[in-house]
Amino acid sequence: MTDRIQRYERTNRAFWDDDADDYQAAHRDQLDRLGRWGVWGIPEAELGAVGDLTGLDVLELGCGAAQHSIGVAAPAARRTGLDLSLGQLRHAVTNLDDADLRMPLVCASATATPFRDASFDLVFCDHGAMSFCDPDSAVPEVARITRAGGRFVFNLSTLLRYLCFPPDDPDAPITKKLRTPYFGARAFDWGDGTVDFQIPHGDWIRLFARHGFVVEDLIEIQAPADATSTYTDYAHARWARRWPAEEIWKVRKLA
Ligand SMILES: C[S@@+](CC[C@H](N)C(=O)[O-])C[C@H]1O[C@@H](n2cnc3c(N)ncnc32)[C@H](O)[C@@H]1O
Repeated sequence: MTDRIQRYERTNRAFWDDDADDYQAAHRDQLDRLGRWGVWGIPEAELGAVGDLTGLDVLELGCGAAQHSIGVAAPAARRTGLDLSLGQLRHAVTNLDDADLRMPLVCASATATPFRDASFDLVFCDHGAMSFCDPDSAVPEVARITRAGGRFVFNLSTLLRYLCFPPDDPDAPITKKLRTPYFGARAFDWGDGTVDFQIPHGDWIRLFARHGFVVEDLIEIQAPADATSTYTDYAHARWARRWPAEEIWKVRKLA
């Protein structure tokens, strides 16, 4: 485990180490439905977020218990999981054993990985490290380890969702009002859990461009009409039918 990590990363690691058992117990039923994305469990076959992985080297960034490496990334030639939390990775070891699957698991931050330059054809995550890392630190590191022509695909909460929580009571349900300014948004630290990150779309696009990525798609997820989820405090399905609560960026590293 590298020590080149910032204070917010220590906060997040402590949170996930402490919460890993509860998180897995609460969401196992949903996460064990393999090959699905996000809080509504929408199938990869429907979203086409990562597409054809045949023959590829794939890294899951913030893999937690590795259910997405086992499911979404199943067709890849080689899979690697990285996570900051040993507590989460212990569950990954169990899940890989249960699936009779061998793949490397690495305990490190997505902002300072131990991989060589140009190691992967695809780096991806579903509410993984990209939700908990300053994009100015994580995007250059992903650019370094992604091969020319390779892809970076990640799902995270929308900025719109963050802006609709009352900042003085983040445990209150999501509202239909904008409570926090859009401009200048970056770190969301309500002092009661993780430090999360989201930035305006223009900032993402400029950041990708600075590090040699071109945007291929932005999938703004709408909750299905029959949406159910174990993430009940995330956003009410009625809210997420009207506004996107999650978005999947699909970007490609220029050849
Ligand atoms: C919400 S969990 C999601 C895990 C998995 N993708 C899932 O769907 O269950 C977020 C994960 O990101 C990891 N994480 C947070 N900050 C990270 C960082 N800086 N680098 C790598 N992983 C990180 C946490 O330890 C946690 O396992």
